[in-house]
Amino acid sequence: MTDLIVGDIIEGAVSDFGSDGEGVVKYGGMPVFVPYAIKGETVRVRVSYVKKDCAFAELIEVIKPSGDRIKPLCPYFGKCGGCDLQHMSTPLQLSCKRDSVKVALKKFADIEADVAIPVRLNDWEYRNKLALPFAYNGRSRRISLGFYQKKSHKVVPIKYCPLHGQWAADLIEVVTDWANEFAPSVYDEDTRKGLLRHLVARKLDTLSVTLVINGSRLPHCDELIKRLKEKFDRFTFYVSENTRADNVILRDVRLIYGKERKQNLGKFCAKVSPKSFLQVNSVIRDALYDRAAMALDGFDGDIIELYSGVGLLTAQIARRLPEAHITAVEIEESSHMDAIELMSSLGLSERVMNVCDDAARFLASLPARKRFDNVGNLDENIKNSPYYVGDMFADEDKKRALILDPPRKGCDGNLLKIADFDRIVYISCNSLTLARDLKILSDRYELEDIKLFDMFPQTANVETLVVLCKKT
Ligand SMILES: C[S@@+](CC[C@H](N)C(=O)[O-])C[C@H]1O[C@@H](n2cnc3c(N)ncnc32)[C@H](O)[C@@H]1O
Repeated sequence: MTDLIVGDIIEGAVSDFGSDGEGVVKYGGMPVFVPYAIKGETVRVRVSYVKKDCAFAELIEVIKPSGDRIKPLCPYFGKCGGCDLQHMSTPLQLSCKRDSVKVALKKFADIEADVAIPVRLNDWEYRNKLALPFAYNGRSRRISLGFYQKKSHKVVPIKYCPLHGQWAADLIEVVTDWANEFAPSVYDEDTRKGLLRHLVARKLDTLSVTLVINGSRLPHCDELIKRLKEKFDRFTFYVSENTRADNVILRDVRLIYGKERKQNLGKFCAKVSPKSFLQVNSVIRDALYDRAAMALDGFDGDIIELYSGVGLLTAQIARRLPEAHITAVEIEESSHMDAIELMSSLGLSERVMNVCDDAARFLASLPARKRFDNVGNLDENIKNSPYYVGDMFADEDKKRALILDPPRKGCDGNLLKIADFDRIVYISCNSLTLARDLKILSDRYELEDIKLFDMFPQTANVETLVVLCKKT
């Protein structure tokens, strides 16, 4: 039991880092987590929250700074919840991310892994996607766009963000000026009233802009499009009607202006719908997917890819392994449709089967599908249905590989329990759920390779690529 209470001011040495890159000060043996404090520093902090076995505190003063402390580039750093590590030198950010993955694997999966420093290919202006809530700014009631404060739904208004390019600052300016002049109401999460909810944008070759509204009609939409035209050469403009109260930002999107075009996506060109998933950092994505595809070099069996998105990784693997047949499973219809179009444009439709389904449900249904496939004389309708798996997995002796690239919450545990593959390639953006999932696999699989890719510089997140092989 600690004697600490909220509001207490304590001084101490930062002895470690937490999983989000925050400093840890020990108080009577109990960890006190202090965002923006660096291991090795001496700090003065104010306690903000006390639990049974740990506490949280705000940094008041750095009494003895670390040599790796640098001046954050962004004026919103520490206020908006976007970045965690701008106050650290790049080498320290990277070692911090490496250590957090190592610690998570050891603590939650009992895996002692030799993990190298993450590969980083860019530091700033790497994000191709922006999603900002609208809010009224204090008493002035000016409409602004911003990021949520950490662990809250309070919006911190911003004019630009150094993780995005100038395009984002220009867009924020156009949209907030328009909103303030024409004053449509702003959505309130408590009353569920008000129109403007989010601005969502993606900048590839061209810009895609979506306004998420709590209603079906966006007043003064023509004026907004006119203003966007003055700033941007080519763009598409969508409206997404979202009247639900959950945390899903985008519902179905309606194209209002512009022509949907293929975008340059590294090795491929493809259309990507606003709702489809795309890694936010295109440069490191290509390096990550290259390495993931390499992990299957020489593999000549059947491949199932779960959580396959718009199919960039699928296409990379199919190109690298010209004999391979891949079944790619994705739950979101717009990503699934984009993937089908990409495979067709690359001439890969014969070797890639895109299935729109829940990953766990699909894997659980495989034995039944195999029986079904062996019936012979299959009806043409069944053969043409997206659920037909063809001859794949019919040959019991053929080797099988599984690719997993799930969202932050990780894989469905049932899926991992029934997964029976010779090789598993797992890409994760959350080391805690990765460790949880590897624990489930650890009695049947051993770690062959692990590599980190810094998809999210300046934040505590990192992308991990893990290759597992079946224990003999
Ligand atoms: C990290 S992304 C994978 C991106 C993909 N590798 C690519 O090249 O685009 C995760 C994907 O999993 C999908 N997803 C989320 N839950 C799913 C589920 N239960 N079953 C199948 N797919 C799911 C998401 O829609 C998203 O496209």
